[in-house]
Amino acid sequence: MSDNAQTLRQFLLAERKQGLIAQDMMLLIEDIATSSRIIAHQIRNGAFLNILGATETSNVQGETQKQLDVIANDIFIEHCSNCSRVAALVSEEIDDVIWLKDQPKAGDYLVYFDPLDGSSNLNVNLSVGSIFSIMELKEDITDLTNEAVLFEGANQICAGYSLYGPSTSMILTTGNGVNGFTHKIGTGEFTLTFPDMRLPEETDEFAINASRFRKWDPAIARYVEECLDGKDGPRGKSFNMRWTASMVAEVHRILMRGGIFLYPKDSGNAEMGGKLRLLYEANPMGFIAEQAGGKASTGMQRILEVEPTSHHQRVSVILGSASEVDRIESYYTENA
Ligand code: AHG
Ligand code: MN
Ligand code: MN
Repeated sequence: MSDNAQTLRQFLLAERKQGLIAQDMMLLIEDIATSSRIIAHQIRNGAFLNILGATETSNVQGETQKQLDVIANDIFIEHCSNCSRVAALVSEEIDDVIWLKDQPKAGDYLVYFDPLDGSSNLNVNLSVGSIFSIMELKEDITDLTNEAVLFEGANQICAGYSLYGPSTSMILTTGNGVNGFTHKIGTGEFTLTFPDMRLPEETDEFAINASRFRKWDPAIARYVEECLDGKDGPRGKSFNMRWTASMVAEVHRILMRGGIFLYPKDSGNAEMGGKLRLLYEANPMGFIAEQAGGKASTGMQRILEVEPTSHHQRVSVILGSASEVDRIESYYTENA
């Protein structure tokens, strides 16, 4: 990378000049980048601030909130509220949709976010992240309900994630490919370090929580068994397995070096519809995967075409190298 690589601001201005994004989108993305910088700072100082532990509260999903889940959520809400075009916020940590406008208009923004993903990794000092997705209202609305924000992921106009790893990075798509920025220690700027990220087509690495194997659908069990069979099995090659319990870290690894990430619906989570949430986990990561040349599926359907029925809805997620996602979809079809 050259010393004069573009800053996030310069990158966004260039997209703006080409007519690829609106001025308000630029401001909103910069506000999200600011949120990420502040969250990264809080995480890195978490042990000193004594904020790595749990709270006594649960979120709407019944999960105990970590102190940093709540802190990151407050930071996102504060900064995403700056942009006057944002009509509503949907957060993993907040039960109902937060309406910022009384009379939202067509073209106003809806921001969906998981302020801290993989938060069970916090007290063991492993990577966590933030995920966000942005859509536009198609028409003026008068009913400020939770249902008014339910649109298919194919309507996203921007999505991204920040990864708080050895360095803080922010990966972004506005529907024109995927670009990766690294937070530069010293100047504090996000700088374009990974332009035009492409998800490798072929892979020999998979990521799944294998402790759930007895609950898997036959299609998932077959896929994993064939990978484990290695060179002598039907795939004719050895596979590697990784699981970090942080979707952001997992997806980032796959974006950088290929692979497939699976958190499928199984007999243990079927009642909830899966584990990962559609609007602020699966949709944004699915959009990024597709924009980088990969795929994201439930096993039976493209994630971006799943019609949401509730704003905290969960969904089966199979995401990564296109040929592997195709293979798993074909196993589901054969078993249907
Ligand atoms: P969150 O911390 O936002 O609740 O999300 C955690 C998610 C995801 O990041 C990860 O892939 C998965 O949960 C880990 O699940 P297991 O505990 O089953 O490994
Ligand atoms: Mn999450
Ligand atoms: Mn979370």
